[in-house]
This record gives sequence, structure tokens and C-alpha cells, in this order.
Amino acid sequence: MSGATAFDPAAVRAQFPLLMRGLDGGPLHYLDNGATSQLPQAVLDAMIRFETTSRANVLRSVHRLAEAATDAYEGARLDIARYLNVPGDEIIFTSGTTSAINLVARSFGEGMQPGDEVVVSLLEHHGNFVPWQMLRDRRGITLKILPVTDEGRIDLSALTRTVTKRTKLIALAHVSNVTGAVTDVAPVVAAARTVGARVLLDGAQRTPHGPLDLPGLGIDFYAFSGHKMFGPTGIGCLWAKKELLASMPPLMGGGEMIRTVTVERTEWADVPHKFEAGTPPIAQAVGLGAAVRWLMQLDWTSASAHEMRLTQRVLDGLGRLKGARVIGPSGLQGRAPVISFELAGAHPHDVCQILDGFGVALRGGHHCAQPLMDHFGVAGTTRASLALYNNDADVDALLTGLDAAAAKLR
Ligand SMILES: Cc1ncc(COP(=O)(O)O)c(C=O)c1O
Repeated sequence: MSGATAFDPAAVRAQFPLLMRGLDGGPLHYLDNGATSQLPQAVLDAMIRFETTSRANVLRSVHRLAEAATDAYEGARLDIARYLNVPGDEIIFTSGTTSAINLVARSFGEGMQPGDEVVVSLLEHHGNFVPWQMLRDRRGITLKILPVTDEGRIDLSALTRTVTKRTKLIALAHVSNVTGAVTDVAPVVAAARTVGARVLLDGAQRTPHGPLDLPGLGIDFYAFSGHKMFGPTGIGCLWAKKELLASMPPLMGGGEMIRTVTVERTEWADVPHKFEAGTPPIAQAVGLGAAVRWLMQLDWTSASAHEMRLTQRVLDGLGRLKGARVIGPSGLQGRAPVISFELAGAHPHDVCQILDGFGVALRGGHHCAQPLMDHFGVAGTTRASLALYNNDADVDALLTGLDAAAAKLR
């Protein structure tokens, strides 16, 4: 970004207390960022500052502390909006990606009729799969599934035969949490526009890797989680255009989502508060605001190059490892730093346990994407997911540990 400070990987890593502390007296090579990333000091400071100087409920009382709390909460919304290049009042705070997608399924989805169609893909995280199955069972819609290619991408060539006049929504991962494949959004939007369908992107694995221009993507809904992008747990967002949000019914009723309540009826508050019933996760929102401010001061051209260089090193190492098979794109084109692989004859949990002995934190299992595991005929994969604070020592430890795991488990 213009005005950003130069990207210095060591200086970035030094801002993460848990990474600096290590684990049980040894180094920590944290490569499970796809599950949850670590917190920089700036986010910890912002949350402690909020709790120790401005803690109060938001959007209610008029005393100074409550006004400071409301300013912090609404300020975070504006910062997150800047990260996505959208207006602040189009950001709805949720508890994460899952709750954002469920909000769409329960609110926008309730307007669908039996026989209407929702299109997802075979590589979706359960968070973007199960809510649509539930909608199918509730509303009698048809759930259609785009296949995946051999290298673990959504097979967009199937769009033309899958999308029909009955399609109301195409809901896809922006980046796969298993294969790391980045979805080419333009053909999805083009297919949706021909039939007047909406497009939802699950951005959980994209938002940690730099600012976005959501209007430029031409999509309708974007969902993501704070804890995967250097923010706290328990907070995430749904973005949609204001007119679309205004046309959707609220999901939950309660305090702060109303304009007036009488015994007979309730009038909703405006967007976004219409969708934020009850006391929200205030400190978490403030923390996520700090996380995006922190992300926005980085030079993302260099940060992405750093992430991709490390990704290439992991792919090269796996290419040399006998019995290893990458489940995902073999090159860097259209891929994020999420690398899944299989080690012949070895259970992913055993691989992860051995790697833990090397101080390497990985994830092994089905990654909440069981339909994809079935497709590739595996019970699970081992996954290394990188963030901008990872370094060559992390990759060295991973590759050394994998050599040992392969020798032991073969
Ligand atoms: C692609 C994708 N979608 C959805 C989710 C669910 O996110 P959360 O558990 O934060 O709601 C995840 C989490 O791993 C994910 O990777």
C-alpha cells in the first residue's frame, strides 16, 4: 500500500509475544495459521487499553465512558471497512465466518422458495456447506455442488451447466482452507449476473493476506473471521451492500437492533445495527480494528512476496520428500500459503505429533472439509498454513521434521 513502511520479516515477527516466547523453552514454529493466527502486541495493547480506559456498553448510555466505548467500537468498524474498501455501515459484526454465513442463510435464505438453487463447491469448509444443507432441509431448495479439479481448485468450467434461472446464490471459498487454491472470482460473478443470482465469498483464508477491494470483485456478500487475521477470537464480519442488507430481515431480535418497540410491533434499527442484537463482543471488535490498522501499515507487495517465497520452499521440500503428495496447486499461481499434503502410509495425526516434537505446529485431519477428503480418497491431510511472520527457520524445522516423520512412519 502507498505510505506503508518497508516489510521487515524479523521486525514483524518480533511484534508477536507468543512467537518470541517459544514453547516449553524451545522455539515455536507456528504453521497452523489457517486455524488461528497469533496476536501482535498492537492488538493486545489496543484491547487492554480499551478494557482499562473505555470499558462500558455501546450505543446505550450517554455518559463519557459509554461514548468512548461506542467510539472505539464504531471506529473499529470504520477501520475494517477501510481494509475492504467499503463504507463503514456495510460491515456487520458477527462472531466469525460461520456466524456470518449462517446469518445470510437464515436471513437472505429465508426468502428462497422450494426449487430455488444455491450453488456451493466440493471444497467448501463445513461453515459454508452445512448452513446451505440446513436451508435445503428447511426451505426445500436445491443444493448444487461445483466439482474440483485434480489440483484442488473449484472447477469453474462447470458453472455454465450448474447455474440456472433458479439459482439465487453462489457461495464459494475465496481461498480453500485445504488446498490453498484462490478462486477466480470474475467468472463466478459473470455466471451469477446472467441469471440475477447473488455471490457470497467465504473470505476466512483470504483476509490475513492483505487488504481487499470488495466492490472491485463485484460480489454481494463477504464473510471472514478476526482470529485468522491477527485479531481476537469471537469476532468476525459480514459485508454486503447497504441496499441488500436493508432488504433482509434481521436474524435475532433484542436490544439495540430496534428503532421503536411497542406492545404491538417493533421497527428495526438501520443497517448495520439491525443485525447486531444484544451486547456485542466490544473488546474483540476493538482488537480486530487494531489488527486491520496493523495490517494496513505493512508493505503488502513485499509481505506477499515473502509468504510466497516460503510457500515455494515448502512445495520444493515436499517435492523432494519420498511418499509426499501435495493436495493442491503445485505452483504459486492462484494459490495462498496454505499447503496440504499426504505422506504415504502415515496418518496426519502421527505426522503432526512427530512435528510437534520439532516445535512445529501443524494441523492434521479433515479440516472441516469432509466432502473434499472423500473426493481425494483420504481420511485427512497434514496442513502447513503460513503467515507473514513465518521465516526460513520455520520452513527448515518443518522439512527436517518431515524427513524424520517419513523415516519413522514409512
Ligand atoms: C475457509 C473457511 N471458512 C470458514 C471457516 C470457519 O471459521 P470460524 O470457525 O472462524 O467461523 C474456516 C475456519 O477454518 C475456514 O478456513
